[in-house]
Amino acid sequence: MEMKPPLSPSSLPRKPRFSTFLLTLLAFVFFVAFLYGEDFMCLFGQQLQFYSSPYSTSFSTPQKIKRQKLPFAIGKTEEGCDIFSGKWVKDELTRPLYEESECPYIQPQLTCQEHGRPDKDYQYWRWQPNGCDLPKFNASLMLETLRGKRMMFVGDSLNRGQFVSLVCLLHQLIPEDAKSMETFDSLTVFTAKEYNATIEFYWAPFLLESNSDNAVIHRISDRVARKGSINKHGKYWKGVDIMVFNTYLWWMTGLKMKILLGSFDDEEKEIVEISTEDAYRMAMKSMLRWVKLNMDPKKTRVFFTSMSPSHGKSIDWGGEPGGNCYNETTLIDDPAYWGSDCRKSVMQVIGEVFSKTKVPITFLNITQLSSYRRDAHTSIYKKQWNPLTPEQLVNPASYADCVHWCLPGLQDIWNELLFTKLFYP
Ligand SMILES: *[C@@H]1O[C@H](CO)[C@@H](O)[C@H](O)[C@H]1NC(C)=O
Ligand SMILES: *[C@@H]1O[C@H](CO)[C@@H](O)[C@H](O)[C@H]1NC(C)=O
Ligand SMILES: *[C@@H]1O[C@H](CO)[C@@H](O)[C@H](O)[C@H]1NC(C)=O
Ligand SMILES: *[C@@H]1O[C@H](CO)[C@@H](O)[C@H](O)[C@H]1NC(C)=O
Repeated sequence: MEMKPPLSPSSLPRKPRFSTFLLTLLAFVFFVAFLYGEDFMCLFGQQLQFYSSPYSTSFSTPQKIKRQKLPFAIGKTEEGCDIFSGKWVKDELTRPLYEESECPYIQPQLTCQEHGRPDKDYQYWRWQPNGCDLPKFNASLMLETLRGKRMMFVGDSLNRGQFVSLVCLLHQLIPEDAKSMETFDSLTVFTAKEYNATIEFYWAPFLLESNSDNAVIHRISDRVARKGSINKHGKYWKGVDIMVFNTYLWWMTGLKMKILLGSFDDEEKEIVEISTEDAYRMAMKSMLRWVKLNMDPKKTRVFFTSMSPSHGKSIDWGGEPGGNCYNETTLIDDPAYWGSDCRKSVMQVIGEVFSKTKVPITFLNITQLSSYRRDAHTSIYKKQWNPLTPEQLVNPASYADCVHWCLPGLQDIWNELLFTKLFYP
């Protein structure tokens, strides 16, 4: 995938008038302060603080902080602890959180053991934040909280993986005849009958309407998303109590993305090409507007999961050219590692858009911590859609999936982080 260099200060637009320039500079300083969090705040000699999560509200000085209780919160994470910065710790005692064979809901694209993966190392890691410990995942607390409620994941196959992981983490508390999993077009619904609770997944890889919206047949080479179309899918999201959005991979069609201005039914379609970053920004803003109009911040919570990193090029981590995640069973140990498949410029767009909004949305910044996990992908150990050719069989790396993740595995940790932010924001 092509890379665009991250936005640098010198590439910021310059305004001719000095005062405007000063304002731009000031805005930029605040944006940087926001991105680099604590380090930068120390430079100011005083600690600015966020409450709940960096994106739940705006800055204010410590004395004036009002710690408003967020819906579902029962405690809080230690002051100043960024749960997304930390390290992976081998843990054969408490991991995995469930067995692959005990969870019938994992789709065959993610059951790595069943498809012959020889090692289980990838199942035995837990995430240790630098500043605090993660609370233990409490399935009964989660289920009690969902009583009479709807939780929904909206996005692409990576969000589907996280949805399935959550169902796997919870379903053992529910007797066989009191749960079901059903699919209706784009919507998949897990129901816990005695709880009158649902956990749902809605396929919308761009969040906006697109030509890749068919829940089954969506592998389209020439992807087009439609501007201003979030309600096309959003009408099915109304009434949800806990929402988890993601979108990223499908926008990566090169340096530009095709955007439809009219309707998909128009005979002469009006399509413009804009930079991936601008297209992505447009979708993020649509999402926030939808949240603002449809979710009650006093009763509901909204999460956004950042880009899931791929491991398609082993040269990124100093491996042999031509390799990828295939046959990788260890973690990348360079703390600064950031693969070429993940665009920093898109992360910057997320930071920009979220820092400017008052819409309360909790950011699950899983990108960096997942980027160390070249070992955790499904690789060749998954159901293949098409029979493999002899050429593929002699070169397994050629058909390894270095995008999706085995379950149990990495995405269970994403749910532990979601659990933490939901109950201990
Ligand atoms: C899990 O949550 C339930 C509340 O639903 C609580 O009674 C129980 O003590 C919790 N378990 C642990 C280990 O914290
Ligand atoms: C079940 O939950 C839905 C919300 O998902 C709610 O509208 C309905 O009233 C609940 N039914 C009962 C019997 O509690
Ligand atoms: C897999 O990696 C091991 C070393 O980690 C190496 O010895 C082996 O040859 C590799 N196998 C393949 C098929 O690349
Ligand atoms: C997410 O975390 C990474 C490092 O852990 C950081 O570089 C990045 O700026 C964060 N993204 C946002 C939008 O805060």
